[in-house]
Amino acid sequence: MTDTTELDLGNIPTNVAIIMDGNGRWAQNRGLPRPVGHKHGVESVQDIVRAAAKLGVKILTLYAFSTENWNRPPLEVQALMGLLKTFLQNELKTITDNNVCLKCLGQKERLPNEVRQVLDNAIAQTADNNGLILNLALSYGGRNEIVRAVQQIAAECRQGLIKPEEIDDALVSAHLDTAGQPDPDLLIRTGGESRLSNFLLWQLSYAEIYITDTLWPDFRKNDFISALIDFQNRQRRFGKTSKQVTES
Ligand code: IPE
Ligand code: IPE
Ligand code: MG
Repeated sequence: MTDTTELDLGNIPTNVAIIMDGNGRWAQNRGLPRPVGHKHGVESVQDIVRAAAKLGVKILTLYAFSTENWNRPPLEVQALMGLLKTFLQNELKTITDNNVCLKCLGQKERLPNEVRQVLDNAIAQTADNNGLILNLALSYGGRNEIVRAVQQIAAECRQGLIKPEEIDDALVSAHLDTAGQPDPDLLIRTGGESRLSNFLLWQLSYAEIYITDTLWPDFRKNDFISALIDFQNRQRRFGKTSKQVTES
């Protein structure tokens, strides 16, 4: 068990991304249907959003539903969409009261109309909030996001707005769903798998990765703090030598 008092509040990562995995196993371990795990996962979302805002994280990016998750059994997809809608409706007041600005990454147009409506409403209602930015990745796939960015850039080239030789890292970043935001410093994955599952393929290029076996419905504030402490004990070298980093 980590001693949470070890957390250095002066060195909190700006952007934390989380692959919230393990809801299904959490339910199956208890002989319950998978959607029950998703339901309990919502409580972890509420807890971690609150904790992140309180600890001074500026951007929290949560992977809630991937482009590949559409291939799950229709009843599970339906349950997830229903939970998403209720979450957005029930949490809107808390989100607003806590000055959280909600954003969506991914193919919003693929979401059922009723979900999109509450999502658009929550985004509009919180647009002027200047506290924590909460990015919800919904029907999100890193490859799809890059493909959409490339299509847009190609169209701008064709219109003569930019020249191919002007395309650089910054221009690509500016065409992603995360435009204007710094890249995640820390990626947390619950549920123990060591893979990216198509999450933020461009943006995670230099993120520190923290994987825990804890299943998402069991992941709470103290587990989040443990991940932050682990992050604080890393040396981020960005290709340099250790000596260069300590001497700079
Ligand atoms: C993560 O939990 C939630 C979503 C992908 C929507 P899972 O449903 O993937 O849970 P496991 O990995 O099967 O335990
Ligand atoms: C990743 O979890 C997607 C989300 C957490 C939303 P998955 O459970 O879908 O990932 P894989 O299929 O095990 O890689
Ligand atoms: Mg999973």
